[in-house]
Amino acid sequence: MNHYKKQIFITFLAGIMFCQLAAAEPTGERLKNLAEPLGILIGFAAPNNFTVMSDSIVYQQVAASEFNLVTPENAMKLDAIVPSEGQYNFGNGDILVRFAQAYGMQVHGHTLIWHSAQPRWLTILNRDMLIDAMNNVIDVILNHYKGQILAWDVVNEAFNEDGTYRASFWNNTIGEDYIDRAFLRCRQADPAAKLFYNDYNIEEINQKSDGVYKMVRSMILRGIPIDGIGIQMHITDQGIDYQSFADNMARFAALGLEIYISEMDVRIPVGYNVEIDLEHQAEIYREVIQRCVAQPACKAIQFWGIPDKYSWVPSVFPGTGVPLLFDDDYNAKPAYYAVQEVLADATPIPTPGPV
Ligand code: G3I
Repeated sequence: MNHYKKQIFITFLAGIMFCQLAAAEPTGERLKNLAEPLGILIGFAAPNNFTVMSDSIVYQQVAASEFNLVTPENAMKLDAIVPSEGQYNFGNGDILVRFAQAYGMQVHGHTLIWHSAQPRWLTILNRDMLIDAMNNVIDVILNHYKGQILAWDVVNEAFNEDGTYRASFWNNTIGEDYIDRAFLRCRQADPAAKLFYNDYNIEEINQKSDGVYKMVRSMILRGIPIDGIGIQMHITDQGIDYQSFADNMARFAALGLEIYISEMDVRIPVGYNVEIDLEHQAEIYREVIQRCVAQPACKAIQFWGIPDKYSWVPSVFPGTGVPLLFDDDYNAKPAYYAVQEVLADATPIPTPGPV
């Protein structure tokens, strides 16, 4: 290879490395900077391997520049942390917490008591043993992360669509009071962490959100500690009823609760039209985020991933996909710019003046 060819080859290699190191920056201000004066955190769910993926440099770069809140997509679920009784594995959770601390992000712990992603050993205990195990697991995990987690999803997805309690092994074995017990134990274990109930299909006022509303109102009346509601927002290209979403948030806010949009993505059918369907998706993001910024209790917006290619959606809803703000090459999509525009246009919370 002559000198000239060598130069071209080296420039080509450097170009490939640069693409890995730097995604094209979106135009305009970063989302977290726009959201901060509004009192809203901007978050993302990180997969287990986000520090060792082939494109983890660019992934982390986008994460650090756009977001100030991170939640582990899977690393803090019970099957990951405590796969066998008494054997704790905090590896991936710790990596995520260290990453967050290095970049000044808050951590949203996800999720403790759920019917899914549970280790088998827990599911076969009798009532007394399960209560003991729940208490132990909460104590160990919350102590391990004490002072490092802003908010915990204490109980996840405990309701059926008709507003009745889901017949999970927690409910079947302990009874409905497993929820009270979990929140009480978490408050005791880490009094500074905010405690959330998190669920899907509770965006609008419907039977399921009515059930959740009745439960949290009753918890508050009975002095059971709960600080917030996570409205997941895994939605489709049909969007949602935005007025109903606003009214629903208003009733939870009136109970004194914080609201997080905790897992947002908007899936659309494959074979979509880049011009029309991605704009339509952006409009859905716009409508949702507008309702959040208009509701003072809405304190965080988390997206369930960064680039489309790592989304859980295609594997669970075949025939749909591309639900997030960034495409597979980390280019900001119309949905990103819709979120950016809403945040930029919103009125910041007034800072108290001199008295
Ligand atoms: O851990 C194994 C790994 O060892 C194995 O190599 C790999 C092979 O497929 O599977 C790994 O486990 C998968 C795990 O994600 C980590 O990738 C599970 O099979 C898979 O079921 C799991 O899916 C997660 C799902 O929750 C169930 O826990 C999704 O990534 C995650 O996006 C999804 O997130 C949930 C929220 O927690 C709650 N709300 C709904 C949301 C979407 O379903």
